[in-house]
Order: sequence, then C-alpha cells, then structure tokens
Amino acid sequence: MTQLALRSIRKSFGAVDVIRGVDLDVAKGEFVVFVGPSGCGKSTMLRMIAGLEDVTSGTIGIAGRDVTTTAPAKREIAMVFQSYALFPHMTVGENIGFGLKLAGRPKEEIARLVMGVAQTLQIEPLLDRTPRELSGGQRQRVAIGRAIIRQPKIFLFDEPLSNLDAALRVQMRLEIARLHARLGATMIYVTHDQTEAMTLADRIVVFNKGRIEQVGAPMELYERPANMFVAGFIGAPAMNFLPAELRAGVQGHRLIIGPTELETSQTLTGEGAVIAGIRPEHITMTQISDAHLVARVELVERLGSQTYAYVEVSKPNLTLTLAVPGATKVHPGDHIGLRLSADNMHIFASDGARI
Ligand SMILES: Nc1ncnc2c1ncn2[C@@H]1O[C@H](COP(=O)(O)OP(=O)(O)OP(=O)(O)O)[C@@H](O)[C@H]1O
Ligand SMILES: [Mg+2]
Repeated sequence: MTQLALRSIRKSFGAVDVIRGVDLDVAKGEFVVFVGPSGCGKSTMLRMIAGLEDVTSGTIGIAGRDVTTTAPAKREIAMVFQSYALFPHMTVGENIGFGLKLAGRPKEEIARLVMGVAQTLQIEPLLDRTPRELSGGQRQRVAIGRAIIRQPKIFLFDEPLSNLDAALRVQMRLEIARLHARLGATMIYVTHDQTEAMTLADRIVVFNKGRIEQVGAPMELYERPANMFVAGFIGAPAMNFLPAELRAGVQGHRLIIGPTELETSQTLTGEGAVIAGIRPEHITMTQISDAHLVARVELVERLGSQTYAYVEVSKPNLTLTLAVPGATKVHPGDHIGLRLSADNMHIFASDGARI
C-alpha cells in the first residue's frame, strides 16, 4: 500500500527553482533515505511533506488522502530534526507527552503512553530529568520519543544524528533500525552519511539539483548506477572515472584505456569515446610487468582494515584511488602496477548515462 505519493512536485523560492519535478511513491512500512549534495533540496522536500512549506505545484498524498493544502498538524506525520528542539524547562517525560497534552488527552493515558515510549527507547530512568541533564544521544532519543508517541503515519528525519560523535552515531543508527523493525513505521530519512544511507534504507533516493537521479535498493545503486552522478555519489571512497574507447570485438566489446586493451563480457552497445568507471576496491596492485597501467603512489591512508592509496597514472594522465587490504605494503613514491577488472567496470556515454 502506498503511504506517501508525491506527484510532479515543484518548489520555487522567488526566481530560484529548488525542486524541479519530483515523483515518488513510498510503500507502507518502507524506510526510504534521501541523499544528495548540499543544497539539492532534501530538507525542502521533507518540509513540504510535513506541510511546513507550501508546494509551488504538484500534489502530496498521505495514506490515500490528498494533503497538499492540509495543515501540518492534520497530516499525521512527525518530524525529527538535527537540532532536538526540546523544551528546556520541561522534564523528559513532559517533553515526550507535550503533544498529547496539547491535544487534551487525559493525564493517566498520557502517563501510560509516555512510559511505553520510554521503555521502547530505554530511557525510563531519565523521565524526571531536564534536557540539560542529558547527553546528546539521550536528547536525540527524547526527540524521537516525542515523534513516536503520536503514532504518525510517516516519520520524517532530517539528519537526526549529525550532531553526535562517531561512536554514538553508530549506536543510534542501530537503534533507529531496531525501532523501524519494531514499529513497522514508514520512515523518510535525510542523511549525508553514506553508511547510514546504505545500512538503513530499503530504498535510497538520490537527489541532484532538485530532481531525482535514481531510486533503488542500496546494492542496486552500488552495482548498477544509472549515470555518472549516482556512480560518483554512492560508494566511499568515490568511483574512479577513466577516459576510454569502446570497440566492438568478435565476441563482446573491448575497452582501450591508455596503452592497455581489455576485453569485457558485459553486454554493451555502440563504439567510440566513453567513460569507464571503476570502484577503488576493484583495482588491484600487481607487478609492473603484468600491469594494465603503471602508477606512482602519491599518498597512503591507513584505516586499519583497509588502506587507501592515491596514485598518479601518466598514460592516460589521471589520479586514481585504490582500496586495498589494510596490511598491504605500499608507500608514497612507490612505482606500482595496476590491474583493472573489466567486468567490474561501469561504462558511461559522454552525457553521463550508463551504456
Ligand atoms: N526559505 C528559503 N528561501 C530561499 N531559498 C531557500 C529557502 N530554503 C531553502 N532555500 C534554498 O533552496 C535550496 C535547497 O535547500 P535545502 O535546504 O532543501 O537543501 P538540502 O538538500 O537540505 O541541503 P543540506 O544538505 O545542506 O541540508 C538551497 O539552495 C537553499 O539556499
Ligand atoms: Mg538539509
């Protein structure tokens, strides 16, 4: 069942077109993550779904009802922001129950529901504290509690974890995943964090300049990006792009990259100048004698389980990123050979579309 239906949504602020025709269906219970560069319109899109911002044109449906002009309070959605915006003078319990109190619900019912939410989020011992007596992660849990208690049709999260330190982000990410599994709620989540997007999403929506570039399951976007934008955006470190020439061979196609010629078993069409995309983890280091390309190592970053090497190739002239096992012996200044796996390459036309 469709829980959210966006139809031809456009939004302009004066002469600036911020959202330029967005169509999207989100199923009931689905976890959808919005990603895209800063300023591409993710927050504006969420705010329009919430009703905090009018649409310039298009329609928004929630659970089968057209809510395009419905007031925010009547849309049955709850939004959690990056800044928790808790009431500082109220206790945790009062913060969580505030919406129900405004709605005039009986005291005993509010107390019971607040306790239920506190148990779900494991913050019962904190109910009598004020927000200033909480850590960042605990505050964010209270903000989520305030959203859950209203049993909304859709949860909207706008970078809810970006104020937290790295360890806490991982912990809260797991808690949000558990919460989603337990509540079976429909969630739309904006993040800049690749790992959050890949791990939390049923589907990722990649935005660029107010439009959707691609929608798909995380591994679909990783394995079959529809264009160079998505290819470069999903995956960290980012995909490498090499100028190449595509030639039809007797069986399958050949790719000419600088001095090297590779055969590929991929089903491709056409010939001529293309761009070959290859992820850092699909380039391997080898002896110079059996290399496809020769490179000089410029920088090495050791992350523990993985090592990233930034290398300079002279033919063709470009810089590539390699991701190799953590203990690999590689040092700045080394001359190394590279092998490229043609079957792991993504071939794009000059306009950026996948071939
Ligand atoms: N009230 C406003 N008036 C004018 N322009 C606005 C307004 N709100 C947002 N914009 C512009 O709309 C564009 C999209 O902004 P939005 O906040 O939706 O981006 P975003 O994708 O959430 O970016 P970020 O990742 O940095 O949060 C930006 O260029 C922004 O400057
Ligand atoms: Mg934003």
